Amino acid sequence: NLEVNIANTITKIQPTMYGAFFEDINFAADGGLYAEMIKNRSFEFETPLMGWKQPNSDKHSFNEQSGIATTIKVLENKTNPNFCRVLVNDDKGFEIINEGFRGMGIKKDARYNLSLKAANHNGAIKKIIIQFIDRNKKVLGETIIVPTASDWQSYSAQFTATQTEAKAQLKITFEGTGTIDLDMISLFPEDTWKNRKNGLRKDIVQLLYDMKPGFLRFPGGCIVEGRTLAQRYQWKKTVGDVDKRETLINRWNTEFDHKPAPDYFQTFGLGFFEYFQLSEDLGAQPLPILSCGMACQFNTGELVPMDELDPYVQDALDLIEFANGGVETPWGRIRSEMGHPKPFNLKLIGVGNEQWGPQYIERFKVFEKAIKSKYPKMTIVSGAGPFPEGDYFDYGMQELKKLNAEIVDEHYYKNPLWFRENATRYDKYDRKGPKVFAGEYAAQSVAIASPDNKNNWECAFSEAAFMTGLERNAEVVNLTSYAPLMAHEEAWQWTPDLLWFNNLEAYGSANYYVQKLFSTNKGTDLIAITKDGKPITGQNNLFASAVKDVNTKEVIVKLVNTAATAQEVNVDLKGSKLASKGTVITLTSPNLQDENSFANPKKISPTQSELKLKGETAKMSLPAYSVTVLKIMLK
Ligand code: AHR
Repeated sequence: NLEVNIANTITKIQPTMYGAFFEDINFAADGGLYAEMIKNRSFEFETPLMGWKQPNSDKHSFNEQSGIATTIKVLENKTNPNFCRVLVNDDKGFEIINEGFRGMGIKKDARYNLSLKAANHNGAIKKIIIQFIDRNKKVLGETIIVPTASDWQSYSAQFTATQTEAKAQLKITFEGTGTIDLDMISLFPEDTWKNRKNGLRKDIVQLLYDMKPGFLRFPGGCIVEGRTLAQRYQWKKTVGDVDKRETLINRWNTEFDHKPAPDYFQTFGLGFFEYFQLSEDLGAQPLPILSCGMACQFNTGELVPMDELDPYVQDALDLIEFANGGVETPWGRIRSEMGHPKPFNLKLIGVGNEQWGPQYIERFKVFEKAIKSKYPKMTIVSGAGPFPEGDYFDYGMQELKKLNAEIVDEHYYKNPLWFRENATRYDKYDRKGPKVFAGEYAAQSVAIASPDNKNNWECAFSEAAFMTGLERNAEVVNLTSYAPLMAHEEAWQWTPDLLWFNNLEAYGSANYYVQKLFSTNKGTDLIAITKDGKPITGQNNLFASAVKDVNTKEVIVKLVNTAATAQEVNVDLKGSKLASKGTVITLTSPNLQDENSFANPKKISPTQSELKLKGETAKMSLPAYSVTVLKIMLK
């Protein structure tokens, strides 16, 4: 028997209880959520023509004299110094081809917006023909730009794909002879999320939107820290005109070497403004995490000297002004000019990602003092290092407690059993200490970040068991998020991941459906649940938590059966009058190794049924390996 007491609220469930952790890892931004289809659009990658081919300038080709594309660096243009110079030698049509991010996904009858900057020397080039092609060079849609000016000028054109193709490329052919300079060659589907220019992929945002995340953490992860301080994430370089945002090598470029990605760079077309805007669209609180002057301790661990910390602290203060300041403030004005005069209502800010040791604490103190003296209501998220075990973590926690830290970020990438065994992890946490942000977690079927990890059902239901523990401890656990959030099928550095996408499609893993079930049923008030009068500890492989929602007037009980056999349970609900029927949402799959996939994206997804109550009791049969949500209206 499980006993639920609806009358007594233990604590409020924070609206931030279940959120999303975004990091540009696994092609999550460029090549993923950010809908730009051209790789290396402004020729700023380390190898400036990476992603571009010029098949008929190959000296072995029949057409070796037809022309050549090179890049030119203009040092005065600090943030976007390179452009491409194309010399066309004969009129037969010299071409350059962009390969996209592992190809370009195009859809039949969908429209695409092409834009570029060109300087056409003496009007030499008469026509630029732009075409989608497939691997056999078949044309799948085309448009033409006539470059009229000798000086730099922007051009745009729209065209329609005639066929659906996952591996299209963009061919650009020049007619006429002479020289033309090109920069910022950009291609977006017309159909982006909310039809925005410089927009996001609609299908991926929809999956996020459907999760109803309470917060969006960005931009990572290790990416915040950088391998070196110079390569850290600097938000100021990611706002303002898109063509002035400085490209940076991605922290995950070739890292973990499973699928090396030497072509992984950050163009920052998806930058801090866009992250704030996305948070707003999702109804999620923005949670930016900033560098605290320590490069990734798994890489160089480079430290900024304490007397040079000011610019880092200033970045945090300026970010708060960018998000919340009036339009008359310097940074508020930039936000306004970017199209959002209203503040973004930032309440949370993170200092450092997975940093630890005395070096972190001394830097954190400086940030805390500066932020709190200027913005006393801002809540600061700190960290004690990755993996909450071991001396360094205890040291960090003790120091942060002494400082009355508000929220501490904990990360765990552990095996599925760990998640089941740690559902009680927070039962004994000090209710008066810092609140917990379970900021990164995911069950690893093989080992942390192993390329063989799977998003299998055992991992997903083990996380669900653990999440009942997070929820039962909502007094201390205020924010939680699975990590990483998403991965490109052909360009990932880390598994498992919550969502998977390729250039045409995206789907949620079984873990995604677990997250979504908890997030969309988080309720407003935590209420008590016991098993045979005793606290829930995962007895008989049964895990549970209970909430009520004072807005929808429901009681919601989450039950996770991690046993290989079904379990019969009676849920006794006391303390309120109830409707005679309830709704049961079940997520289950017979095999531990089962997974969702592109071929079968909803193999593990929720099903719904009705349940008649016997008086105050819900008699339920919980399938083997299942996550169940019981919802009953209160009268
Ligand atoms: O989620 C992947 C990485 O794991 C994050 O970048 C980092 O914070 C953690 O080590």
